[in-house]
Amino acid sequence: MSKKLASARIKTESSALLKALNDSLPFDKVLYEEDIKGSLAHAAMLADRGIITQEDLRAIKEGLESILEDIRSGKLSLDGGEEDIHMAIEDELTRRVGDAGKRLHTARSRNDQVATDFRLYVQKHNRIIAEMLLSLVETFVGIAEAHTDTLLPGMTHLQHAQPINFGYHMMAYASMFKRDYERFVSAYERNNLSPLGCAALAGTPHPIDRNLTAQSLGFDAPTLNCLDTVSDRDFALEMLFNIATMMMHMSRLSEELILWSSAEFGWIKLSDKHATGSSIMPQKKNPDIPELLRAKTGRVNGNLVALLTVMKGLPLAYNKDMQEDKEGVFDSVQTAELSVAVLDEMLSEMTVNKEAMHRACMVGHLSATDLADYLVREKGMPFRDAYHLTGEIVNFAESLDKDISQLSIEELHKVSGEIDEDVVTLLDNRASMNARASEGGTATERTVEQIEAMREWLRQEASK
Ligand code: ARG
Repeated sequence: MSKKLASARIKTESSALLKALNDSLPFDKVLYEEDIKGSLAHAAMLADRGIITQEDLRAIKEGLESILEDIRSGKLSLDGGEEDIHMAIEDELTRRVGDAGKRLHTARSRNDQVATDFRLYVQKHNRIIAEMLLSLVETFVGIAEAHTDTLLPGMTHLQHAQPINFGYHMMAYASMFKRDYERFVSAYERNNLSPLGCAALAGTPHPIDRNLTAQSLGFDAPTLNCLDTVSDRDFALEMLFNIATMMMHMSRLSEELILWSSAEFGWIKLSDKHATGSSIMPQKKNPDIPELLRAKTGRVNGNLVALLTVMKGLPLAYNKDMQEDKEGVFDSVQTAELSVAVLDEMLSEMTVNKEAMHRACMVGHLSATDLADYLVREKGMPFRDAYHLTGEIVNFAESLDKDISQLSIEELHKVSGEIDEDVVTLLDNRASMNARASEGGTATERTVEQIEAMREWLRQEASK
């Protein structure tokens, strides 16, 4: 069927192997909504500019609308062996409305057509993912609000470092996903330009109006240079990069959730709805969701690298290599949308074991830095000397099998006479957490400020 439409020069039937390699219909058929939307806008513009008649426009419109309905309802399946979604729909249109259908492709090429369809798809899903990210950030903020006084060991090198609160830890993730959201928004804005009317590569001699089609498709304006436009897949690469970065964040969180739900930590419990069992070990409850989210990150990274590699050596303008742009993007988009939804639901229903987190703070001398800071501040000791004296006190606490926060003033005096009684309260883990009250720090009051700022930002975004 497609041979008739797309190949005036090719007389023999295509080899089945050529078709297996060349046809994109099996995967680009998901673009049918965008393809029809683009064709409707194009036909309306052609009629407006007197390039086709109003009568032809009416026939094309009716035909395309009935095709859309039939695909949606399942009455029309797109597996007629055409090369791609563009040929399949044009073919079907001509079957339905005759000659008017053959006029649709005036002043258009599949090169600007595919660029338009694909951009519409990417922009649509950009909006969907961005919306989901706002909800995810809100979920983090909600958890943070409930835990601004829940102590846990903050870590570096996965070793206990300084006491922080769990709300603060959640706000770190809220900040990461906020940046992801902003990246999606900026990609949307940068790429919201219409490729339609660029034709094969150089524009067209027909008196078209690209502003008209841009406007009716929801783009801000037409693109500047047609040669660039039909060669450009940056919008798809940006989508892949934004998804890869977002999934990288999700993967880091997943790693923590997996650790925290282990018996060694026991800091959180995933709801039974979000855990799976083992086929042989009846006692097991496995964190499959965060494990899969961690793994999906590899897959979306692969999609990004694959398209970067496809594009890297291509001369201008369109090359068939570029047909390889779609499957990875569809896959990453699907993966991203499912992943954010699952993560959001799982976080909303996870339980936090405050006691276990608090207990963990009694290991690792988390407030040691506070003692060193005290010696510097109150005793005028050079920091390096204070650091060494604190080290001695930590060793002493270890010899007693105690955490530094459990030492009495008498015990402290055994190592140094320089220490006053008020140090004991200072070494308390909560006091230590609240002492870090510099801007952006973990102190409860600072965490609350961060939550308020993030809530305000969420309100602003929601009202846009
Ligand atoms: N199926 C093609 C793709 O996805 C459409 C563009 C074809 N253009 C061409 N000149 N062969 O890239």
